[in-house]
Amino acid sequence: MGPARIRINPSILAADFVNMQAELDRISSADFVHVDVMDNHFVPNLTFGPQMVERIQATSPAPLDVHLMIDDPGRWAPGYAELGAASVTFHLEAATEPVDLARRLRDIGARAGIAVKPATPVESLFDVLGEFDQILVMTVEPGFGGQSFMPETMPKLRRLADEARRRGSEVWLQVDGGIGESTIAQAAEAGADTFVAGSAVFGAGDPDAAIEALRTAAARAHVH
Ligand code: DX5
Ligand code: ZN
Repeated sequence: MGPARIRINPSILAADFVNMQAELDRISSADFVHVDVMDNHFVPNLTFGPQMVERIQATSPAPLDVHLMIDDPGRWAPGYAELGAASVTFHLEAATEPVDLARRLRDIGARAGIAVKPATPVESLFDVLGEFDQILVMTVEPGFGGQSFMPETMPKLRRLADEARRRGSEVWLQVDGGIGESTIAQAAEAGADTFVAGSAVFGAGDPDAAIEALRTAAARAHVH
């Protein structure tokens, strides 16, 4: 096996919303731009919806990795795939028909992602791994940037990575929340290959340099 493919997806939740074009220009080495959609119901915070994401899609050089922290994803998620997002991730806790929704997203042409909050077990996903292109293990409670990484989520990530390997699955394993230079290695070591980082990237003097430092630290620790 060649070197691990590591993806670093900066979260624009930590960017300056009224200077988005300039902010996107500061992360030219990003693999995807992570876009946090919050509805003030599924999480106690509110960001933006499809109209804003459509403008970001039109101006971003990197593909979009949309993270929907919303109720009723069956109603809203396909719209994000239709506006051109490369990847659309909805929460297992909010979905009534997750496999059906993933199939609809793939039919439109997006990668289908499913996310789990820190306390949500992942075992129910084992038999349907092939239905998803990405599984997001939240490493903080969703809703806000700048929180501390929760190491207690790592055994769950490890079980998921073991299961994916056992089944020969190519699903990407993503982590989101509190990822920075001091935490990324443990997530990579547990099996993550796709890393969201908000404050660690946009809070740095040189966001592109921060992305490269994260990439190096993850590649060094990634074992699978
Ligand atoms: C939190 C969001 C994250 C957030 C991460 O609910 O899903 O994507 O932007 O921010 P940091 O990296 O600062 O923890
Ligand atoms: Zn996110």
